[in-house]
Amino acid sequence: MSKPKIVVTRRWPAEVEAILSDRFDATLNEADTPMDAIQLAEALATADAVLPTVVDRLDASVFEAAKARGIRARVLANFGVGVNHIDLSAAKAAGLVVTNTPGVLTDATADIAMTLMMMIARRAGEGEREVRAGRWTGWRPTHLIGADVAGATLGVVGMGRIGKAMARRCHFGFGMKVIFHNRSAVADPEVPGARQAPLEEVLAEADFVSLHCPGGAENRHLINAGRLALMKPTAFLINTARGDVMDEAALVAALKAGRIAGAGLDVFENEPSVHPELLTMENVALLPHLGSATRATRIAMGMKALANLEAVLEEREPPDRVV
Ligand code: DGY
Repeated sequence: MSKPKIVVTRRWPAEVEAILSDRFDATLNEADTPMDAIQLAEALATADAVLPTVVDRLDASVFEAAKARGIRARVLANFGVGVNHIDLSAAKAAGLVVTNTPGVLTDATADIAMTLMMMIARRAGEGEREVRAGRWTGWRPTHLIGADVAGATLGVVGMGRIGKAMARRCHFGFGMKVIFHNRSAVADPEVPGARQAPLEEVLAEADFVSLHCPGGAENRHLINAGRLALMKPTAFLINTARGDVMDEAALVAALKAGRIAGAGLDVFENEPSVHPELLTMENVALLPHLGSATRATRIAMGMKALANLEAVLEEREPPDRVV
């Protein structure tokens, strides 16, 4: 019997690619170049499954183009938890199951949020740039004075798995108080004394605001000029969620005006481009979307996508169905 045909849109960890090649008639993207809308539509029309990543834009026009040719694919097994890059109703209308990879990247992503928090609080990027440039003139009492993390208040926006993991790290590791905002009531925030509050209250009280809510239309520009103005001038913003949750131009304006103290960003509105003014700011730490980038995590994401893919092709309910 012939093996199901799958298209993998980017390079995946070698361990997972080996299994995919063994079990399927797999087209791998050896050049690791992003696929355009025409290539994605072609994949949907010619393969039994397409395995996209969080940077493949699967909007309605891609499904329309594939439909015009006749869609063969039954599943989009996404490598990643965020699905804001997929038009879910168009995918569903086209008869596709969409799955994602929740759970396995929780710790790695919370660790990156912690990394950014420490970098901006203790001016680590600034200090490293100084050392590398040969500009360090030696220890002195007033040199690169940062902010304390111990005892400060963390504000979490989106108290799901990753938000809770960030809260646990900050509370149990650094003795921080936690206040959080979440659309629905959170029965167990997993941190003693953590308090659920309206977004405006979280922004006004926190010393570090960390974003962990989904991207996409529902949260687009949730953090805008008006909401940034509620933050303390000594407070920092951390974003490891999605770039579109934050109005990047409004963030730049707030940083320039000193309305907030700094920002740590792993995600951006128009990745991989970054607002040019952010690149010039010393009080901003910038990472290239590294949230889930550990070896074990990326393998686990691939294995989860594989389990979802196999379930759909074998006509079982996939463990991580989104639609
Ligand atoms: C995800 O899974 O949504 C992440 O952004 C990838 O790191």
